[in-house]
Amino acid sequence: MGKRGMMGGPCVWLTAGAVGALYWLGARERPAVRQPSAVPAIDRPEIIETWQRMSAQPHIRCFQHKLVRRAVTGLVGARVLDVGSGLGQLTIALARQPEVSEAVGIDLSADLVEAARHQAETVGANARFLEMDAADLSPLADASFDVVVSTLSLHHWTEPQRALAEIRRVLTPGGRAYLLDLRRDIAVPFYGVAALVSRYLLPEPIRRAGEPLASFKAAYTPAEAAVLAMKAGWENPTVTTGPVWLLLEMG
Ligand SMILES: C[S@@+](CC[C@H](N)C(=O)[O-])C[C@H]1O[C@@H](n2cnc3c(N)ncnc32)[C@H](O)[C@@H]1O
Repeated sequence: MGKRGMMGGPCVWLTAGAVGALYWLGARERPAVRQPSAVPAIDRPEIIETWQRMSAQPHIRCFQHKLVRRAVTGLVGARVLDVGSGLGQLTIALARQPEVSEAVGIDLSADLVEAARHQAETVGANARFLEMDAADLSPLADASFDVVVSTLSLHHWTEPQRALAEIRRVLTPGGRAYLLDLRRDIAVPFYGVAALVSRYLLPEPIRRAGEPLASFKAAYTPAEAAVLAMKAGWENPTVTTGPVWLLLEMG
């Protein structure tokens, strides 16, 4: 065997170096405990615009579509609530499903509610948007929704237990909630990737907000999410996971 064969080619060394660097960076970033997000909303105009462009990408749309189908397949005339609806894409997608009779999005940020209303009007979608805190859904009646969904919002909520109890209150008996979010316990090298992406790769307004690294640090682990749900009164919540995300299902 030649010297090159024994030592491995430059590609092997480069790959090993890159993986080592991701581990090193990831180990520095991965928090031992949850670090709550200092930024409750993505409502600065430049971030709204960038987020709008990013979330129009096909892989995000595809992920969203899968959640929508999972939430409404088999239902008839479903009333659906999207908690932390942001720019309203998910609520609008829900409003367009034949199984859905009513789609409402609520968000803490008045600017995002306004942007979502504008978007619904522009595309002619029958979705309503209201300014509300997830922890206080009192304008919504008990048992008024068949499905509750939420994406990338749970880790922002300052009173998550109250919010999960409110979601329980507004769901009909037999209704179901689907909360999709990032998870904090991602593998160490993923933290390395998130740090690089947050610092160098994403559009400037998102980078300046320290995202997505800050959101990973503020996110829950699957076990923490399940405990939160049980403390809020849910029996047998389930949490399914992917490499960087978790889906908390209740009901
Ligand atoms: C990262 S964005 C996600 C938006 C949207 N769900 C999506 O997937 O594109 C998080 C959203 O949660 C909202 N939010 C944060 N805290 C909230 C709270 N306590 N109640 C309702 N919405 C909240 C923010 O205003 C923001 O729109």
